Amino acid sequence: MNQVAAVLVGQSARPKGRLITFEGGEGAGKSTQIRLLSQRLAQTGVEVVATREPGGTPRAEKLRDFILSGRASSLGPLGEAVLFAAARIDHFDALIAPAIERGAIVLSDRFSDSTRAYQGVMGEAEPRKIALLEKVALGDLRPDLTIVLDIPAKVGLERAFARRGDHLAPDRFEREDISFHEGLRRAFLNIAASEPDRCCVVDALAPQEEVAQAIWQLVEARFLGANEAHAA
Ligand code: TYD
Repeated sequence: MNQVAAVLVGQSARPKGRLITFEGGEGAGKSTQIRLLSQRLAQTGVEVVATREPGGTPRAEKLRDFILSGRASSLGPLGEAVLFAAARIDHFDALIAPAIERGAIVLSDRFSDSTRAYQGVMGEAEPRKIALLEKVALGDLRPDLTIVLDIPAKVGLERAFARRGDHLAPDRFEREDISFHEGLRRAFLNIAASEPDRCCVVDALAPQEEVAQAIWQLVEARFLGANEAHAA
C-alpha cells in the first residue's frame, strides 16, 4: 500500500472517506482542477468519485436541467434554493454518503456554498432560511475541505464564454451581468473568511499546473499529514 492509501486507512480496516468541494464563480477552472486532482489521487490507489452540483444522480440531473434552463427562476431565489436543496438531498443520500462510507474521496464541483452565494447573498434570500435549508439537506455535515477558486469576474466570464462557444446559449446564471458575478466573487471570499478551517482560497489566475499543485499541497497537508512528515 502506498503512502496516501496507508495514511487514509490509518489504524482501522476501512479507509476514511472525505468530501472535498470546489466552489467559485463561472470559468474559474473547477472542472479542470477536479480532473487533475482525481488523476493524482487515483494514482495513489484511493477510490475517487468526481461529481457535480446541481446533479450527480439521475434525479438530481433532471432538476439541474429544469433549474439551469431558467424555468424555475419565477419561483424566486428561495424557491430555486429549495430545488437546489432537493437535488442535493438525492445527490448526498444516493451518491456521496455511500461513497464516503466506502472510504472514497468525493470531489464535488459546487455544493452548499453555491446556494449560500448565488441564492443567499446574490439572490437576497433570507440568510436564516438558507441556513435552515442547509440544515434540512445536510444536517450537521460540512465538506472536509472546500477549495474556493478565485478569479476576477470578467476573466472568469470570458473563459466560460470561450469554453461554451457560440452554438450553446448561456445558462440561467451566466446570463447575469458583471456586477452579479463580482458580487459572487466577494460572497465566496466572505464564506471562506468566515470558515477558515474548512475553506481555502486558491488563486485561479495562476497557470493551470500551479493551481493544481497548490490544490494538491492542500489535500496532502490536510489528509496525509504532509506537514508533520516534512517536519519530522
Ligand atoms: P454549471 O454549468 O455547473 O456552472 P459552473 O461551470 O460555473 O459550475 O452550472 C451550475 C450553475 O448553477 C452555476 O451557475 C451555479 C449555479 N448554482 C446555484 O445557483 N446554486 C447552487 O446551489 C448550485 C449548486 C449551483
